[in-house]
Parts: sequence; C-alpha cells; structure tokens
Amino acid sequence: MKKMPPVLLHGGDYNPDQWLDHPDILAKDVELMKEANINCVSMGIFAWSALEPEEGHYTFDWLDERINTLYKNGIYTFLATPSAARPAWLDEAYPEAMRVAADGTRNRHGNRHNSCLSSPAYREKVRQIDTQLAKRYGSHPGVILWHISNEFSGECFCPLCVERFRGWLKDRYGSIDKLNHAWWTSFWSHTYTSFDQIEPPYTNGERSVEGLILDWRRFTTWNTTEYLQMEVDTLKQYAPDVPVTTNFHATDSLDYAKLAEPIDVISWDSYPFWHKPDETLPYTAAVTSLMHSRMRGYKAGQSFLLMESAPALVNWQPYNKIRRPGMHRLASLQAVACGSDSVCYFQIRKARGSAEQFHGAVIDHLGTNETRIFREVKELGADLQKLSCLQGSRIHSKAAMLADRQNSWALDLCQGFSRNRNYQETLDRHFDAFTTATGCDLDVISFGEDLSPYSLLILPMCYTLSEEEAQRIREFTEKGDTVFATYALAYVDETLLAHLGGLPGGGLKDVFGIWNEEVDSLYPGETNHTFYQGQEYTIRDFCEVLHLQGAESLCSYEEDYYAGNPVLTKNSFGKGSAWYLAARTDDAFLRKVYSELAAAAGLPVQALPDTVEKHVRTDDSHRYTFYLNFSTESVTVDVPEGTDLLSGNPCGPSAVLPAYGAICIKEDL
Ligand code: GAL
Repeated sequence: MKKMPPVLLHGGDYNPDQWLDHPDILAKDVELMKEANINCVSMGIFAWSALEPEEGHYTFDWLDERINTLYKNGIYTFLATPSAARPAWLDEAYPEAMRVAADGTRNRHGNRHNSCLSSPAYREKVRQIDTQLAKRYGSHPGVILWHISNEFSGECFCPLCVERFRGWLKDRYGSIDKLNHAWWTSFWSHTYTSFDQIEPPYTNGERSVEGLILDWRRFTTWNTTEYLQMEVDTLKQYAPDVPVTTNFHATDSLDYAKLAEPIDVISWDSYPFWHKPDETLPYTAAVTSLMHSRMRGYKAGQSFLLMESAPALVNWQPYNKIRRPGMHRLASLQAVACGSDSVCYFQIRKARGSAEQFHGAVIDHLGTNETRIFREVKELGADLQKLSCLQGSRIHSKAAMLADRQNSWALDLCQGFSRNRNYQETLDRHFDAFTTATGCDLDVISFGEDLSPYSLLILPMCYTLSEEEAQRIREFTEKGDTVFATYALAYVDETLLAHLGGLPGGGLKDVFGIWNEEVDSLYPGETNHTFYQGQEYTIRDFCEVLHLQGAESLCSYEEDYYAGNPVLTKNSFGKGSAWYLAARTDDAFLRKVYSELAAAAGLPVQALPDTVEKHVRTDDSHRYTFYLNFSTESVTVDVPEGTDLLSGNPCGPSAVLPAYGAICIKEDL
C-alpha cells in the first residue's frame, strides 16, 4: 500500500469541473493554492456529469490535465468516485436508482446522497465509472488516496431494499419464531408468521416494535457497508496500492464502526458551531474534540484525516456566523492535536451559483489572495509545515469512553425514562468534564473494541449491553482496571429485551456491588442534591434508587423518599474497582469524580484552566504536547520543557497562551 507523504496534508474539495470554460481561473487556482501552502485537493466528488456526460461516453481530458498540473506544482490528489450525485441521464434511464422515502414514495431526480444503494443498475453504473478511474489513475504518482463517494447517510424504502431487509433478517434470526421472540411481537398481537409479512418502519406503518426499527437501522448500515465494499473492491482490482477512505460526518443514521471496516483510512468532515451565544467556546471545543476522538477510535492506533472543514463559515446553519480572526488556526490545530494528519476544507474555490455559492472557501469570488480568510489559510499552511514531523505519530490514551452508535439508537427508541434522555449531550458533558479535570486524552470507542490499552473505562448511559459485552467489562475490572458507569446501565440486551434478574443486567450486579431497583425521572427544573466531600452538588433529570450489595456509598441523595440512598458507589471486584453514578449530576461533580478516578487509575493528571485543552501525540522517539486556549483572554499554563514547534522557541516550565493561542512542545523520549 502506498504510504502517505511524510507531511501534514493541507487542502480541500476542489471542483475544477465547474470552471472548465475559464482556463484563466484554473491557472490562478494553482498559483493561489501554492501561495496558501496547499499540498492536496479532493477532486471529482460531484463530477459524474463532467466525467460521463452521456452514458458510456467518458471525458477524462480535463481531469488528466488537472491531476498532472497540480502534481507538477507539488499538490497531491485525493481522487473521488463520483457516486454521491447522479447525472440526469442516469435517473432517466434507471429510475430505480432514485431512493424511496419512508412514506413509500420514490424521489424525483435531483439533490444528492440519495441513491438506492441496493439498485443493481446504479451499482453497475458506479462500478463502470470506478473501473475507468482506477485503470486510468491508479498508478499516477499524484493520486495518493481514493475518496469514495461522499458522506454516506440515509435509508431507502424501495421494494428491493425491503426484500433485502427480509433476507438480512432471515440470516440474522434463522427462524420467524426467533425473530418474534427477539422483537417481543406477541405484544399488541403483532406476531409474524412469515418473513414476507415484515415491512420496514414506514411513516404510516409499524413504529411500535422497537426491535424492528433498530434492526432496520442495522440493516441500512449493513447495506451501505456492502455497497461501500463494492466500490472498494472495484478500485482495488485495478489500483491495489492506493489506500481508500470515505468521508464520515456528524450523522446518527449509520454505524460508522461497521463502515470503517472496508476502508484503509478514516476521514471526516467537521463543522462545529463556533461562537454560539448559548455555549462557551471551551465547551464547543470539547464537543468537537469528542468527535475527533470518536473518529480516531474507528481505527484504533491510526491517525485520521480531517477531510472537510469550513475555512470561514458555512451556508446551512440557521445563523452562519463567521469564524473570528484566529479561530480558524485554533480549530485546525485542534484537529491535528487530536490525531489528524490533515486539515482540509470544503472548498478551495467558491462556486459561482447554486446551493453553495455563499459557503466559505479559500478563494472567494474576488479570486485573489487579498481576503482575511486566504491569509489565515496561508498562515495555517505554514504552521502545518512546521508540524510535519508529527505525521504518523499517535495518541496513546489510557482511558476510553464507550459511545456506541447502536446504544444511541437504542436509547433513542426507548419509550421510558423521560424525553430528556439526551445521550449525546451526556457523552459531551462527561467528555468535557474528564478532559478538563485531568488534561488527559480520552478515546471514544464502540462495542467490541480491544480494551487492553486502557486502565479506565467510562460507560455513560450504557443502556443496551449484550451478555458478551458485559462479560468483557467484568474481565476488564477483574484483572485490575477501573470502570465507571452511570445510571441506565444495562437495562436491555442487544435485541432491546429487558435483562431479567435485576439491574444492572448482564450479570454486572456483583461487579458493581449494587442492585438498581427503580428510576425516578424529574420534571425540568426539579432538582435533588448531594454532598460529596463537603461540597454540595445538584442533581437533575434521573435518580436511580440503588441498594448496596457489597459496594460502599460515597455520597447520597439529600431529598425525596430516597434521601440517604446512594448517588455514587464504589466496589472492589477482583483486582479492580467498579464505580457507579446513580443520578445525573452537574458538571462540577463529574469533574471532581474524574480527577479522583483518573488519579486512582494511574493516569498522568494535570488540572487545566477552564479554557485550555491539552493533547499528546507520540512517536518512537518524541512526545508532542499541544496546549490550546479557547478564549479571547490570555492564560498561563504549566507545560513540559522542550521546543515549541510553532514559534521555534524553547518552552517551559510555564507558558502564556495568548487569546486563541496554541503551542506544540516537542520533547525527546
Ligand atoms: C459537507 C459536504 C460538502 C459540502 C459541505 C458544506 O457535508 O460533504 O459537499 O456540502 O458539507 O458545508
């Protein structure tokens, strides 16, 4: 497999196919990209019409010219397959390529990210154009990565997808009786007598059997992954040496842990809402950092690529606030600090018309280097060159938070608790509290992940848990590590059937030394309280009523009929310990507990000022420590002694980070 060049990549989506009748602009693009220290582009993402204007008639000359010219100028290409949007001729000839919506109606031609991924005609047309691309460009030295399609998402309810869903269910359950049991269909008399009776969750159809909806989402992920595998195989047949990626984004509709399997490199598109009036900047930063860490987790031990980000602003948020001066640099360095080997944008040149004409770009309609954004991109490019030695270095975290997509779906489908289950927000708050209180990186992982690198495992609202996963948690604790779980642990198994025999289910009662009898949901605005080590903390939303069965209670409820019952418990199990948090507490409580837990688990704790993030990448001989200040005020922070790669100056034992400032300290190991 071709290795990535030994630099950090800097570039973005580039659509020369929109400008083929403007050779002057195409020439200027190269000049400006070089000036902006850009060394890669993603090309061809939505270029199907330009590459195959009529069925079977291919026009590659323009792409040949672009790839060659860019390469001669030191700019690599991530070459896309154009399958994310279909030309009009294709939909006219093969209407079955158009997706069917959840109400059963077939889309008309238009938009993007809306193909029926089961359609044999669509698959065949994609296979044909991918074959052409792979044969023509697979050995071009400028082509360093295949960028498959774009941001897979969504589902199709066409008859073919329904048929495939039934086949997938047959493989999964083997018999209709087993399916009926798993979905508990005897409830409301919904028992099936044949797989042919099963329909997906149409908007006017079966929406009360949660197991069905969960399996439909799993099937959609399987179908998308199978489709992705088809594109991967087609490219690899003719270009086996070029690695492949597909760009993930912040969607909940697919389980990326599965889509990660056929690809070589994880990449993703990050569009945080910076400068929100109702959120602090450090919190937005933490939420973004969680997403980077989640991407890192999809291929443990590898770096990832930031495939898209907005150099200035987007055009699709309700209010498209522009990044303040300096924010672009800080947000980009954050991605690198979290393990990305690239900073790429949507888009290099701003489109003249259509949906994205006012989306931020490196090159504005003005077409020069005279904009603030261009200058900031150029400066960032220079910074990335100073950080080139980081390429290939890794984050080695000792702590992980389980944040599985299927658990998210299960909680979303659960008709219990209260509406404010807010799983993602819960993850965000735990991630923020942990990283601020400890200064340690936190991996974000899915079910089935290898737990051996970790000494601390965090399980916020891990509502669905199979017997196998529960067993892995048991073994993790038993051999001497620390596990910390919150309310809602292991209520149901992987089919959403309630665990019998008391909670937490899956045989975890003895690991945590507790029995969870019931859960009280509070109305918005209602609170309970707890005192922990002399300090009072607020509780909202959820209060479980626990019984101790071996664990010690570290603090308890102050009010209501469960006053005196434990809020936080700790149990010794095997050589390790298992902590349980029965209620949704404020962030200050989480920070307190995480600083203790991390220290107990032997992590290198450094309490940070509220606005500062710290991340550590290492390679065989160096450690690179980033400190990033998400604030408009300067701040002083303790740092290791070494050289700041960004300023070139010696650094330590403390450093002043200016507003939006960043340092990256290199130390020999
Ligand atoms: C991404 C997409 C790009 C572009 C961008 C705008 O989700 O992949 O093609 O539309 O959003 O922010």
